[in-house]
Amino acid sequence: MLSYQHAYHAGNFADALKHVVLIHALNYLKKKNKPLCYIDTHAGSGDYKLNSSEAQKNQEFQSGIGNLWQREDLPACVSDYVKLIKQANHSGQLLRYPGSPLIASQMLGDKDRLFLYELHTAESRLLNEVVKKDKRIKVFRSNGLTDSLGLLPPKENRGLILIDPSYEIKNEYQTVVDVLKDMHKRFATGCYLLWYPVVARKRNQYLERALQISGIKNIQLFELGIQADSDEHGMTACGMIVINPPWTLLGDMQQVLPWLAEALGQDQQGLYRVEQLVSE
Ligand SMILES: C[S@@+](CC[C@H](N)C(=O)[O-])C[C@H]1O[C@@H](n2cnc3c(N)ncnc32)[C@H](O)[C@@H]1O
Repeated sequence: MLSYQHAYHAGNFADALKHVVLIHALNYLKKKNKPLCYIDTHAGSGDYKLNSSEAQKNQEFQSGIGNLWQREDLPACVSDYVKLIKQANHSGQLLRYPGSPLIASQMLGDKDRLFLYELHTAESRLLNEVVKKDKRIKVFRSNGLTDSLGLLPPKENRGLILIDPSYEIKNEYQTVVDVLKDMHKRFATGCYLLWYPVVARKRNQYLERALQISGIKNIQLFELGIQADSDEHGMTACGMIVINPPWTLLGDMQQVLPWLAEALGQDQQGLYRVEQLVSE
């Protein structure tokens, strides 16, 4: 039984990192004027009202987009992200946070296709409402980890696959590696983005080791923490693991992550990692 609801967390520092990397990768892939296939294995409900009782409960968005919204000294990648969130808030006030499906649909073109998986019934219903008029999009209320495999390789032969689990199930750190291996076997040139939380560092060490021995090449890791590692404070950091990253990503993240760690870190405890986990 899944209980995770992204409405409590939308726009937090983890979304900020995830969506900065997503936007960078989509901007890069869009440069080639050829159709692209976007797959979101864990889509969420797509659009989040920041004045809802869920978002207001812990106001997590203040630790992410809330801290960046008014700044005028944003590095280019962060500026692209904030601009996109501003486009979703016409009044100039931060009231809405678009999730990954809306970010991707806003950035992609007429010839691109988007496939969104969301297992939770209520979330999937909301997602359908949000994207129903968009003919490029297909929503599936099913398991994105297993079912999206059938879409690979996409007919476009160009694709970005975002894997953004809530890690509610303990063995998900292993499952995502198995899924990536299967996906990569079918579609070796795809750009894969895997989000992960840092809740207990041991699980992340396991995940990284499993990827290092997976046989998959060209993997980079980008991590942002707002507090030092701790087993008591829940998620203190999170990261994005990228397979076949745009060649521009590493350099940009070397600039952006120290800046984000400084801007979003609590009590000057911000931290970051930029690593080539597996060479090309
Ligand atoms: C972190 S949220 C997604 C946020 C979204 N990607 C974004 O960036 O806006 C994870 C979502 O995955 C859903 N979920 C969990 N397991 C799933 C699975 N195996 N297949 C599809 N959806 C799943 C949850 O219900 C939840 O809505």
